[in-house]
Amino acid sequence: MSRLLCVNNVSKQFEVNGRTVQALDSVSFDVEKGECLAIVGESGSGKSTIANIILGIYGASSGNLMFNGTELPAKRSKEYRRAIQLVQQNPLSSLNPRRSIGASLRLALDVHGIGAKSDRAKRTGELLEEVGLPADYRTRSPSSLSGGQRQRVAIARALAARQELVVLDEPTSALDVLVQARVLKLLKELKDSRGLTYVFITHDLSVVRNIADRVAVFERGKLVELGQTNAIFTNPQNLYTRRLIGAVPVVSREEAALRDRLMEQESGNA
Ligand SMILES: Nc1ncnc2c1ncn2[C@@H]1O[C@H](COP(=O)(O)OP(=O)(O)OP(=O)(O)O)[C@@H](O)[C@H]1O
Ligand SMILES: [Mg+2]
Repeated sequence: MSRLLCVNNVSKQFEVNGRTVQALDSVSFDVEKGECLAIVGESGSGKSTIANIILGIYGASSGNLMFNGTELPAKRSKEYRRAIQLVQQNPLSSLNPRRSIGASLRLALDVHGIGAKSDRAKRTGELLEEVGLPADYRTRSPSSLSGGQRQRVAIARALAARQELVVLDEPTSALDVLVQARVLKLLKELKDSRGLTYVFITHDLSVVRNIADRVAVFERGKLVELGQTNAIFTNPQNLYTRRLIGAVPVVSREEAALRDRLMEQESGNA
């Protein structure tokens, strides 16, 4: 595998009412091409801040990012804006309500200059089918779709750009559990069939269990643990990670046993 993104010693401070908030504290990790790296952590741990820095929405206070071996500039060129795409938590706020679904997808193709102009109308229908929606949804408005369908459109729009990296910031948190499972399944299928690379951000560890190759755990702006998903779930090293896993709803007997063991160890530590 080759390295797509390197995050090197990135820190970020915000000034809020004369007070400094350390949102990220010297964070370093890599993302390999074709992998899903999950970033998990409680609210306020810095997950969206690192997403915004990867996307170039915020600049880092210190440290740098390398993309395909080249340092990412603070002000991103059109090419980087195409290469790194975002899927947000709330697709209703990311899709223009006055534009039809087809027009939103078409705009992405036009902005990024993808394919021949004469093919783009057809391509919008194909993109919808790739995310499991009928091609004739092109004519519909975002408000006429369910939350899960809208999130599929947001995913299609990211794919329209022929992106190299998709940053997903809580992509399923606004959806109910069954819809969440279907959108996750779609994301996993797309990753497997197309070799997509994801940075998948969530406060919910259970969401990433089946999709993530590796998991990075953030706590108050610091990266406190990074490892293969299986290792994080079966043998978490960090006390904070153990607590996060302890908060995951239990679905199997092995996991119930693990949770009890972790809680026992923790009460032993206290
Ligand atoms: N634009 C901003 N201005 C000031 N402070 C900010 C800004 N963005 C984030 N912060 C602060 O930085 C810290 C990290 O915030 P961030 O949004 O990255 O957390 P998060 O892990 O995404 O949380 P959540 O799970 O609630 O989305 C918080 O203390 C937050 O208040
Ligand atoms: Mg966030």
